[in-house]
Amino acid sequence: MTSDRHTLEGTDVSIPLLGVGTWSWGDRSTWGMGGYDTHLTRASIHEAWNASIDAGVTLFDTAEVYGKGESERIIGELLAGDPGRAASVVVATKFMPSPWKLQVRAALMKSLRLSLGRLGVPAVDLYQIHGPVSLRSHAAMADALADAHDAGLVKAVGVSNYSVKETRSIDAELRKRGLRLATNQIEFSLLRRAPETSGLLTACKDLGVVPLAYSPIGQGRLTGKYSVARPPQGKRNFSNHPMEVVDGVVSELRRVGEKHGGKTPSQVALNWVIAKGVVPIPGAKDRHQAEENAGALHWSIDGDDIASLDQVSLGGVRSFQNRIWQHG
Ligand SMILES: NC(=O)c1ccc[n+]([C@@H]2O[C@H](COP(=O)([O-])OP(=O)(O)OC[C@H]3O[C@@H](n4cnc5c(N)ncnc54)[C@H](OP(=O)(O)O)[C@@H]3O)[C@@H](O)[C@H]2O)c1
Repeated sequence: MTSDRHTLEGTDVSIPLLGVGTWSWGDRSTWGMGGYDTHLTRASIHEAWNASIDAGVTLFDTAEVYGKGESERIIGELLAGDPGRAASVVVATKFMPSPWKLQVRAALMKSLRLSLGRLGVPAVDLYQIHGPVSLRSHAAMADALADAHDAGLVKAVGVSNYSVKETRSIDAELRKRGLRLATNQIEFSLLRRAPETSGLLTACKDLGVVPLAYSPIGQGRLTGKYSVARPPQGKRNFSNHPMEVVDGVVSELRRVGEKHGGKTPSQVALNWVIAKGVVPIPGAKDRHQAEENAGALHWSIDGDDIASLDQVSLGGVRSFQNRIWQHG
């Protein structure tokens, strides 16, 4: 890691300390595009894209399942419309290894080619297994990823929602194919501290795996705009603690933000994730959100702040297998 980027192990791909999650780009049921959120439009997404890249936040995370491919399609259009900056963008997407996809090599290759077509790129920078839900072995998954890498279709390979044991196992299988596991994307925030307390972050560090944090602002709950009286709309099943409990965490975020010259709760929450050595990928629906989230960079909370935030943080439960079908 340089001071402002992580280089993915065994590759020449480097990612900034903060990325953008694009699940909401094209998704209706959780994030309301074309539904309850009339503010979320192609134009607002375009502005989020521009504002993020302007701020040096050039990592965009998507998945084949987001909006049934719509998120990838939108990114493809944005890349095509922004040729001058496309080379600086790092695109990460995911394969959903549903249990019925028993021919996992062929299934992954088919999904990958469809993703590349929607994105309009010859290769993806980071290709991730969306979750440990395949009935096939880690060796089979590693072979499928390695074949895609050897075919020149992916530059780095990662996983998502893998436990300590699963991370070690697939990393070992990838090494047999001369590859390294670059990333593990996990839910990590002040509302879900389990990856730290379970030893997963330490294991990632040992293995040279960069952890990426999804739902790092608790699906909007840590921004300070929601409350008991004004809960978030849509499904938002991650970090789904009662707002009474979340309020205590937000109060502490406000206190720390004041101390640092008026940083917002989102900026402090993201800065805490970065302080833990994890790359947060908060969703951004418009220019304002993208700019505010980018304001988590170029400053640091101190040891006292980290301790006080650790104190109010919540553990969270691991119920990924139940929730993956909701396409997070
Ligand atoms: N691998 C997985 O299994 C998995 C699972 C979940 C997510 N992800 C990835 O992680 C990314 C981020 O997670 P997430 O989208 O679930 O949650 P999140 O990043 O914690 O929350 C994003 C939402 O918070 C609100 N928001 C963002 N910035 C804001 C700001 N500055 N001020 C006010 N509101 C703001 C927006 O929704 P509203 O404006 O509607 O409140 C936005 O859609 C996803 O986009 C996806 O790429 C991966």
